[in-house]
Amino acid sequence: MSKLDALKAMTVVVADTGDIEAIRQHKPQDATTNPSLILKAAELPAYQSLIDDALNWAKAQDSTDDVIALAVDKTAVAIGTEILKLVPGLVSTEVDARLSYDTEATIAKAHRLIELYEQAGIGKDRILIKIASTWEGIKAAEQLEKEGISCNLTLLFNFTQAVACAEAGVTLISPFVGRILDWYKANQPDTDFSGANDPGVVSVSEIYNHYKAHGYKTVVMGASFRNTGEIECLAGCDKLTISPDLLAQLSDSNDELPQVLNAANAVSNQPKFSVSEAEFRWALNEDAMATEKLSDGIRRFAQDQVKLESLLRNRLEQLN
Ligand code: E4P
Repeated sequence: MSKLDALKAMTVVVADTGDIEAIRQHKPQDATTNPSLILKAAELPAYQSLIDDALNWAKAQDSTDDVIALAVDKTAVAIGTEILKLVPGLVSTEVDARLSYDTEATIAKAHRLIELYEQAGIGKDRILIKIASTWEGIKAAEQLEKEGISCNLTLLFNFTQAVACAEAGVTLISPFVGRILDWYKANQPDTDFSGANDPGVVSVSEIYNHYKAHGYKTVVMGASFRNTGEIECLAGCDKLTISPDLLAQLSDSNDELPQVLNAANAVSNQPKFSVSEAEFRWALNEDAMATEKLSDGIRRFAQDQVKLESLLRNRLEQLN
């Protein structure tokens, strides 16, 4: 049995890509996209006709909204729709990162994405609206969940962000592993961060154990992996979203893969607690890694959204 099959027996495996071929190959249950992955997918030859369709659709709309803004949302939804033809479960589609500090605008964008999916014949039960784990993003998710729209809170780097998400009743969180490791390696180059010392692995394990020990229903989906060792240290987590190259490495190995995380044995060293806005902001401010990585993540997703807009603008000029 491959390590990938062993992992699938204890954890829901999710493909961290918009690449249809990779999804076809590894047969994950769900898939996740983000603005960087949508940009990468939009550059693939397989998606060129879909982009033209999105631009032509946007031009034909009787709307005061900018054609490119409409076409960007339509493209993300069209890629998600293609992915849903291959996965039996869910797809995550991310809200424009430039809205990360605006609760109302995030809610409006989520409604827009769900409406576009509905027009494509896809119900909200197959969609996770992905939102950055800022205070404003978590409050938007709290409202959307009350409306029956499931959310995936991403760019999650610390425990307080995770507690605020669970207390807000969000469906799923994506705590990042690799970007935490990246930060510690850059800031403490002489420290050994291998195996169970990996600070990203430690972060996700603590969150998982706290959630399970206190009976939170929010699903923990580890994300942002740099190597298969990080994935193996989190085997047993509810879900793990994994890039195609790491899925391939897991698929190529037949070594044993023991379960590490287990809800039945979960113990938290903290009591159950809720988080006010002031406490949330203070905890983030106290955590240089989480503060820097959250800002950096939002900045990078926003840059890739702008790049996608200019890719579509150039194509629109050609079509005109
Ligand atoms: C998925 O939810 C995340 O967007 C993704 O895992 C980030 O991975 P990266 O840190 O390799 O970009």
